[in-house]
Amino acid sequence: MKDDINEIIFTEEELRRRIKELGEQITADYAGKSPLLIGILKGCFVFLADISRSIELDCEIRFLTASSYGFSSVTSGKVKIEKDIDFDISGRHVIIIEDILDSGITLTALCEYIMKRVPASLKICALLDKHARRQLPISVDYLGFECPDEFVVGYGLDYAERYRNLPFIASLKPEIYS
Ligand code: IMP
Ligand code: MG
Repeated sequence: MKDDINEIIFTEEELRRRIKELGEQITADYAGKSPLLIGILKGCFVFLADISRSIELDCEIRFLTASSYGFSSVTSGKVKIEKDIDFDISGRHVIIIEDILDSGITLTALCEYIMKRVPASLKICALLDKHARRQLPISVDYLGFECPDEFVVGYGLDYAERYRNLPFIASLKPEIYS
């Protein structure tokens, strides 16, 4: 697996430090509240595990599955939300926990879906933002890092369901995609 890596973009230590800061910021901003964290599967699973443990509040944690990529590194443009929400959102302070924001198509669809269920508030927390690739005007409230315009893997992010268990964020050698 490590032979497939082109370059490490964010190290374990950088991720650890930044996620602790984000958790502290959320803890301060939501003081006295019990936010509902909604993780977007599958890419969020490592980020959510770490950030949730740095949020010192009484949180509820739920998941939604959204997919637009299939086994490709280019978005299909159509977002499939795989499971209808079976938990109550109305009146809750919702924070979406997402691995990476790229075109913005996935998060725009998810925000519309959640807003229909009338939360008290809705914010987005994303580990990475490929701002240069945005197609829809959506912005992140809590951002880990700006990400270069490259396909990246690791720390929950996959290419064809592989590399999610790398402890850092990296780009892959070009020949892996061909
Ligand atoms: P968007 O709908 O184009 O914003 O894409 C967002 C989703 O695409 C993310 O939740 C990821 O699952 C996936 N994605 C986008 N860029 C990458 C990448 O560089 N590596 C792995 N997955 C990515
Ligand atoms: Mg995702």
